[in-house]
Amino acid sequence: MKTWLVTGGAGFIGSNFVLRARSRGLARIINLDLLTYAGNVHNLDCLREDPDHVFVRGDIGDRDLIGELLGRYRPDAVLNFAAESHVDRSIDGPDPFIQTNVVGTFTLLKEGLRHWRGLSVAEQAGFRFLHVSTDEVYGSLGPADPAFSECTPYAPSSPYSASKAAADHLVRAYHHTFDLPTLTTNCSNNYGPRQFPEKLIPLMILNALEGKSLPIYGDGLNVRDWLYVEDHCAAIEQVLFEGRPGEAYNIGGACELTNREVVRAVCGVLDELRPRSPYRPHDSLITFVKDRPGHDRRYAIDSTKVRSELGWHPEETFETGLRKTVEWYLRHADWVQSIQSGEYQDWIRRQYGEP
Ligand code: NAD
Ligand code: DAU
Repeated sequence: MKTWLVTGGAGFIGSNFVLRARSRGLARIINLDLLTYAGNVHNLDCLREDPDHVFVRGDIGDRDLIGELLGRYRPDAVLNFAAESHVDRSIDGPDPFIQTNVVGTFTLLKEGLRHWRGLSVAEQAGFRFLHVSTDEVYGSLGPADPAFSECTPYAPSSPYSASKAAADHLVRAYHHTFDLPTLTTNCSNNYGPRQFPEKLIPLMILNALEGKSLPIYGDGLNVRDWLYVEDHCAAIEQVLFEGRPGEAYNIGGACELTNREVVRAVCGVLDELRPRSPYRPHDSLITFVKDRPGHDRRYAIDSTKVRSELGWHPEETFETGLRKTVEWYLRHADWVQSIQSGEYQDWIRRQYGEP
């Protein structure tokens, strides 16, 4: 069986990826996660008895630890999901974004290269360093601009997207200069089970359930391209197995929606699934609040390359994926309670003020 070192595998996308990979028996997984506020070890509860899932709490910036894990487990691939991922937090305090997203990725690359150089020629040929990145590195589109392709110049606008762009450039340089067999994926907005409720969709679901206001930034006409997390994970698998070393692949749902449309859709599903809620119709809870500084207006992904070269396509529509997502949050009140810790409450107060 193959062995993969997965970083950030207790977070939203990483945990969905690890659960999916283990349920299909794709590889033994060494899961390295620092368990920041966004990481939740309970996401991995059902793997507790799984001998082919090894959880290690630690930092991707810890060079000795990375060297030790690579030496001990000799993985066939490193998949880097670990990151500080929330744009608003990067505006509030960018330092951890530079540390984890830039310095952490650099450390993984340095140690990954050292490991790769020590492999046999056959092992070197099979090894992959897959870096999970974002469409935000391309900046913001105007209403009539074509969607981001892999050739769109980088123009990041927030500390978060700038840190991700810096990491992408390092990954590219490690392939170009040292031949490390890297792959980069640049994906659009994900939604689905286990997403931390600082992000738009889970925040709106949980606020609406409690009858709290649904804060939409600015005029609510910013556009995002939404993809169900399971479809993103399937694309990453496909890129890992079939992608060409040194290449980047854009992944997106071809599902452009304004934030108003997204929040109304969430409210519509809740109206249907919670017909006796005192807060129905839930869209009466919508309020327009101060805009995010430097708020990117529109993202849209052209995923022709991953579709035509690797045969990937999303399985879920926004309607089916959103329904699954809302149902998951309704069924997992215990999960919600576990992450509504003191730190989380502090963040919500800093970002949105006292209730
Ligand atoms: P997340 O914030 O939910 O999870 C990040 C995980 O990384 C957490 O488990 C956290 O504990 C861990 N982590 C943070 N710093 C670490 C460190 N120094 N060492 C080890 N682990 C650390 O993020 P997510 O939404 O799951 O995003 C995963 C990746 O996908 C990120 O690289 C992000 O940039 C990218 N991405 C996210 C989206 C999206 O819509 N969420 C879209 C495209 C790309
Ligand atoms: O595009 C991919 C990116 O998508 C990922 O790289 C990021 O890690 C991920 O966080 C996400 O970034 P966004 O900034 O697009 O996601 P967020 O859920 O924070 O916001 C989505 C949109 O909703 C954005 O236009 C801001 C708006 N918004 C967000 C929040 C939290 C609101 O209007 N109100 C809110 O309270």
